[in-house]
Amino acid sequence: MADVRLIVRNARQVVQVRGTPTVKVCGEGMQQIDTLQEENGDGISVVSDSCGKIVFIGKESERKRKFIENESTCVIDASGKCVLPGFVDAHTHPVWAGDRVHEFAMKLAGATYMEVHKAGGGIHYTVEHTQKASEDELYDKLKQRLNSMMKSGTTLVECKSGYGLNKDTEVKMLRVIDRARKDLPIGISSTFCGAHAVPKGGNSEDATNDVMSVQLPCIRNLMDRKELAVDNIDVFCEQGVFDIDQSRRILTAGKDIGLQINFHGDELHPLDGAKMGAELGALAISHLEEISDAGISAMVEAGSIGVVLPTTAYILRLKPPPVRKMIEAGMAVALGSDFNPNAFCSSMPIVMHLACVILRMSMPEVLIAATLNAAAALGKADTHGSLVEGKRANMVIIDAPRWEHIIYQLGFQNDLIDFVVCDGNVVYEK
Ligand code: NIG
Ligand code: FE
Repeated sequence: MADVRLIVRNARQVVQVRGTPTVKVCGEGMQQIDTLQEENGDGISVVSDSCGKIVFIGKESERKRKFIENESTCVIDASGKCVLPGFVDAHTHPVWAGDRVHEFAMKLAGATYMEVHKAGGGIHYTVEHTQKASEDELYDKLKQRLNSMMKSGTTLVECKSGYGLNKDTEVKMLRVIDRARKDLPIGISSTFCGAHAVPKGGNSEDATNDVMSVQLPCIRNLMDRKELAVDNIDVFCEQGVFDIDQSRRILTAGKDIGLQINFHGDELHPLDGAKMGAELGALAISHLEEISDAGISAMVEAGSIGVVLPTTAYILRLKPPPVRKMIEAGMAVALGSDFNPNAFCSSMPIVMHLACVILRMSMPEVLIAATLNAAAALGKADTHGSLVEGKRANMVIIDAPRWEHIIYQLGFQNDLIDFVVCDGNVVYEK
């Protein structure tokens, strides 16, 4: 019998998302959620071994026969409660100094995202403050933000650099992310986004060259020496930032050093970034408010995952991405909070609610997008995103009779969530 780290016993409902070890769900398949349900007082239990892997999921009566706790086992009585997979946030910018509350006021008064950006605010404002901040200061802020994400149920999160725009600050940000990966229980996928904006006073061609011939080689070197772990390459492919050709070159250079392509495309202008990304075999493309029909087909064909970010569309009052069309075409859609100083929301339950209302997604679609498909967008769906034996024991336990409450009760996530579990360890308890 495996050494037992955690037993979650006797839940009313356990949401597996998929009962078989699936790695992503495309199109209309996103309508189906697999759940296990208490029957005649016999609830559902989940057991984690001492490595943080799920070794049992099934009836409490069977669990009692197979897995007994020892003195070091943590036992959670989940009677009457509901267990979901830990949420996966597929897109965030959580390392920065200097908030932008003043810009929120400007945007409410009618300024667009690009007007603020071109006036030297937006990303530029954050870059100025992040360049000046020390590694420790950035780490403390990141830790606070990741803890708040965890409290809302996130157990795996993508974290981008991108407020450095020069080698030293980009590396500083990636080091801060790496330190969090080693020291904090939340799972992290790290993304180099040196091409997030063109440095003030510079031009996009020089910035492209700097990313490709200064920043990336330095990162590669650190990765080769095992001093830094980075998973993904990103670029803000947008009119007035990096064009299609520059984005293609940057993403290809990242892919050449082993990074997964996962970038910002077709957000404010229809540049056909989705088509370009699909041609490069992108793992995922984010935003897609302005994706074309050809872009949708190309992504479906290439198997690229569409990461949609309802907080951004909401805050900037953008036309939302055509998610219904994307799902009908057979795309696998994932969700991210896009947490950043523009879109200050780190709660996946709020993101899921917004996705239902603004993006017209159903609750099953939204749950798959915030678990299994978000894990797939990070290349981690073989270990994360659903509750099946063999995957990580990452769970959210809510005090509600059915899982839909976590989406339905807008803003109540901290009342609903009793426990958050990462790798079989309780990392948050209400
Ligand atoms: O995904 N669009 C580019 N990047 C971020 C915003 C970053 C910022 O404004 O600081 C986004 O929305
Ligand atoms: Fe973003």
